[in-house]
Amino acid sequence: MSYRGLIEHYRKYLPVTDKTPVISLLEGNTPLIPAEKLAKAIGFPGKIFLKYEGLNPTGSFKDRGMTMAISKAVEDGSRAVICASTGNTSASAAAYAARAGIKCVVLIPEGKIALGKLSQALIHNAAVLSIDGNFDAALNLVKEMSQKYPLTLVNSLNPFRIEGQKTGAFEICDVLGQSPDYQFMPVGNAGNITAYWKGYREYASEFPAYGKPVMMGFQAAGSAPIVHGHPIEKPETIATAIRIGNPASWKSAEAARDESGGVIDTVTDDEILDAYKLLASLEGVFCEPASAASVAGLMKYSRNRFFDGKAGKSSSKTLKAVCILTGHGLKDPDRAISSVSKPVSVKSDLKAILKAIGL
Ligand code: F0G
Repeated sequence: MSYRGLIEHYRKYLPVTDKTPVISLLEGNTPLIPAEKLAKAIGFPGKIFLKYEGLNPTGSFKDRGMTMAISKAVEDGSRAVICASTGNTSASAAAYAARAGIKCVVLIPEGKIALGKLSQALIHNAAVLSIDGNFDAALNLVKEMSQKYPLTLVNSLNPFRIEGQKTGAFEICDVLGQSPDYQFMPVGNAGNITAYWKGYREYASEFPAYGKPVMMGFQAAGSAPIVHGHPIEKPETIATAIRIGNPASWKSAEAARDESGGVIDTVTDDEILDAYKLLASLEGVFCEPASAASVAGLMKYSRNRFFDGKAGKSSSKTLKAVCILTGHGLKDPDRAISSVSKPVSVKSDLKAILKAIGL
């Protein structure tokens, strides 16, 4: 049977019933791309896989959570949803709300969301309110509004978001036939690390042989509240998706880290950009800067010889690391263009063109 979206595919692991109206754009089922050249280039002693979540319908992993959150909102009779966002949540909420025929209100930090994401929220006809505060301020506002008015909150504080997003872990296990040894991922509001860890725990209790990965989460150095152990009042990073100073799922992110024996650490903006450009040029995979924090983290730990002497849990003992590439590179075209050299202007003349490319 053809693929019918993640709710149908993983129905028995999700809190849905026959009465739940499934609002789906056939999200999920994203590729797990082997990255052999990357492993070689960074000296990783095993196999690297890229979970390319940018190939979801609105270009980010948020669609996994949003198909659940919007379906359940409609089931509960909600006519409007609200979220704060650094961009991707608003793009996804706007698209799924449009599909469900309900209203969507989004609060975004003025001037700090990537162009592609803004265009999505607008074209799907959400009420887009740009505030003179950061994501943390926007989240406080929408929490209050959802308590006082008939607006369903679809940020990852909504437990159905986490339920949908845990299916990323199921897909990885289904493809590899085991959980990876290490999972690298960006951490912003910390819902996704919470969701993946929940997914791995649930699958391991159903299929004990799969085991669980060590969870390796990365915050941008200028926006690293969990690493520093206190909220950051003015978070800064070029990875605007994870420019967050007071994550909602702080505690459960720490639990994922501690229960898995992992880390939540920092990567600098320069490390993020290096990983971003390397992935695009070496592997042909274009992700947004925040997503590249996962690969930047893997590069940092490879460089520091963290994996020396470590073996994988499969019978072959090959180490397997998965990096979650949370969003598509086209979300933030400005960053791509400002990170590399500009197009070369030439006359529309064969000789001039050949000369420009050195032929
Ligand atoms: N990567 C991307 C591309 C994101 O958009 C986000 C979060 C994250 C990583 C971090 O995930 O918050 O679950 O730890 N974006 C949210 C948004 C905050 O509003 O789109 P997290």
